[in-house]
Amino acid sequence: MQDNATATADRPSAAPRHLLVTGGCGFIGSNFVRLVVLEHPDTRVTVLDKLTYAGNPYNLAGLPTDRVELVVGDICDQQVVDRLVERSDAVVNFAAESHNDNAIADPQPCMRTNVQGTFCLLEACRRHDVRFHHISTDEVFGDLALDDPARFTEASPYCPLSPYASSKASADMLVRAWVRTYGVRATISNCSNNYGPYQHVEKFIPRAVTSVLAGVRPKLYGDGRNVRDWIHVDDHCRAIWVILTHGRLGETYLVGADGERSNIEVLHTILRLMGRDEDAFDWVRDRPGHDRRYALDAGKLRRELGWKPKHTDFAEGLSQTIAWYREHEAWWRLAKVATEATYAKRGQ
Ligand SMILES: NC(=O)c1ccc[n+]([C@@H]2O[C@H](COP(=O)([O-])OP(=O)(O)OC[C@H]3O[C@@H](n4cnc5c(N)ncnc54)[C@H](O)[C@@H]3O)[C@@H](O)[C@H]2O)c1
Repeated sequence: MQDNATATADRPSAAPRHLLVTGGCGFIGSNFVRLVVLEHPDTRVTVLDKLTYAGNPYNLAGLPTDRVELVVGDICDQQVVDRLVERSDAVVNFAAESHNDNAIADPQPCMRTNVQGTFCLLEACRRHDVRFHHISTDEVFGDLALDDPARFTEASPYCPLSPYASSKASADMLVRAWVRTYGVRATISNCSNNYGPYQHVEKFIPRAVTSVLAGVRPKLYGDGRNVRDWIHVDDHCRAIWVILTHGRLGETYLVGADGERSNIEVLHTILRLMGRDEDAFDWVRDRPGHDRRYALDAGKLRRELGWKPKHTDFAEGLSQTIAWYREHEAWWRLAKVATEATYAKRGQ
């Protein structure tokens, strides 16, 4: 992507008046829509979401219907995408099959939505000259050794190691090519692991929290030493807004909050905060090809755009997240039953 740091002509200047958010009924997308509606009163949002098992319209409940419209549809449907992109000033693409274990069990939906879907969106943005921001992951860079002090930067080579990571890397490559070849006004952000309210119970933290709440021992993959770089979803959403409105076009920004922790450390913290013994969990078979360590250097985002995380106390953020799941059992109870049945079939 471009390196001309001074090109102010390449900076989008104003907040979009009409934003298309794909995947806005999922975890990060719904947190982002809520943030935009509450803090940016001049922006209206259309959400395009297929409502897969991971999408829940309740995630947008309570938001004013004159500011947020939900269109149930598929980002791979070019006609629908074109119609919605044409009437928008900007698109933020969250829609994805986002779970590694599901992509390992059946990669097809992941390739279709993550790669083909991004292609459809880029084509529509190219045709209608609409600003595009693409949400990606640190997993595109592969993994780091546990004893390696290095962290990923925007200059790190892509080296995806799982079906999910390779689909996200492919989508990023499409965005870069559409910027360079067609001049699409796009940015990419690659973020580390998010936690917070509205995350599907299949993911590590909500799965552990809801297991404890349901009176079941949580599970830990492999030896538990895998390291993830945790960021509160609110900090990620604030980074996306600042990149969308002030980021340099054609650029990639890494989003991370210096939150490296091993999975076993995270589980111990959850158990402690929930009043359980630290060893009150069961070991299960590891994920095939499980990446060892991710760590991001978000220096560019901090320096250029002045972003910094607000949620720097991980135990405090976890404690609020646990409280959210405790207060929203109706939100997760049915999904928990279905998710645990799937995990049981996989021996996890
Ligand atoms: N969760 C994380 O820790 C994390 C970290 C970095 C990047 N990301 C990226 O952020 C984005 C959002 O992740 P998330 O955790 O909120 O995911 P999620 O699984 O909670 O939500 C995905 C949403 O996309 C929708 N969707 C799926 N396929 C669709 C399609 N074909 N058309 C329209 N909508 C579709 C789903 O219904 C759901 O609402 C993804 O692109 C993911 O790769 C996630």
